Amino acid sequence: MQRLQGRLAVVTGAANGIGRASALRFASEGANLALIDLEKDGLDRVAGEARRHGAKVHTIAGDCTDEATIVKAFDEIRQTCGFVDVLMNNVGQSARERASEFYKSEPEVWRFVLDVCLMATLLASRQVVPAMREARKGKIVNVASNAGMAGEVGISEYAAAKMGVIGFTRSLARELAPFHVNVNAVCPGVTKTRVIERISPEIVAKIEASIPLGFFAEPEDIAAVAAFLASDDARYMTGQSVVVDGGRWMV
Ligand SMILES: NC(=O)c1ccc[n+]([C@@H]2O[C@H](COP(=O)([O-])OP(=O)(O)OC[C@H]3O[C@@H](n4cnc5c(N)ncnc54)[C@H](O)[C@@H]3O)[C@@H](O)[C@H]2O)c1
Repeated sequence: MQRLQGRLAVVTGAANGIGRASALRFASEGANLALIDLEKDGLDRVAGEARRHGAKVHTIAGDCTDEATIVKAFDEIRQTCGFVDVLMNNVGQSARERASEFYKSEPEVWRFVLDVCLMATLLASRQVVPAMREARKGKIVNVASNAGMAGEVGISEYAAAKMGVIGFTRSLARELAPFHVNVNAVCPGVTKTRVIERISPEIVAKIEASIPLGFFAEPEDIAAVAAFLASDDARYMTGQSVVVDGGRWMV
């Protein structure tokens, strides 16, 4: 399938995991890429892999939570690569080793999680929306999570941030629908990225047992849905939050 032939896709947090897999999937479907991540070496590796699909790739090492960095990054992308057809707001993470039950959690950790999940999504979206409105086309794919759906112990700030991403997705979708810009979210369940390596084997086994399909997602499973949402196959979908979690949360 070459659903993204000649389109420019920006992926944030593209050096690893779901962002990397999505960038490569977009490239395999014909897209050119602009990739942003903190990790320059990782970005270079992904760029090399994407170029093997024939993609033109521009990389920017920078912090997606920093407004000045993001404004500069998107100026550079506009000048070097042109109109952004697809923005995938993938950057995000939970508090990881600093995660705790809410009663003992710290505002500093909440701010970190809200910044990396929610502010980074708003900052990058703000950079592409004016041109998408004007061009009357474009796709924004936000990476949320299934975490906030049922609620889970020990990740309250992450659940709040990701439900924030879902609320943002719906509201922006309504604003941009008259301009034929689609805004959707993909909500992964536990996915085999480096995040899993940090979880104890007992908890991994417990989570796996709670998944109806009985196994964790590969990053490519999420990338496949992101590519669909980034393509014209999803032209009649906007404001949706597509849960990709092996059936753990059923609506
Ligand atoms: N892996 C899962 O189980 C899972 C489940 C649900 C949702 N998600 C979401 O999917 C997205 C990707 O997660 P992943 O598991 O692939 O993570 P990952 O840690 O494997 O990759 C994230 C990438 O983002 C980059 N990054 C982090 N902070 C950044 C910043 N401030 N600026 C620029 N780059 C930054 C990292 O360097 C890394 O390359 C996140 O939004 C995460 O919340 C993941």
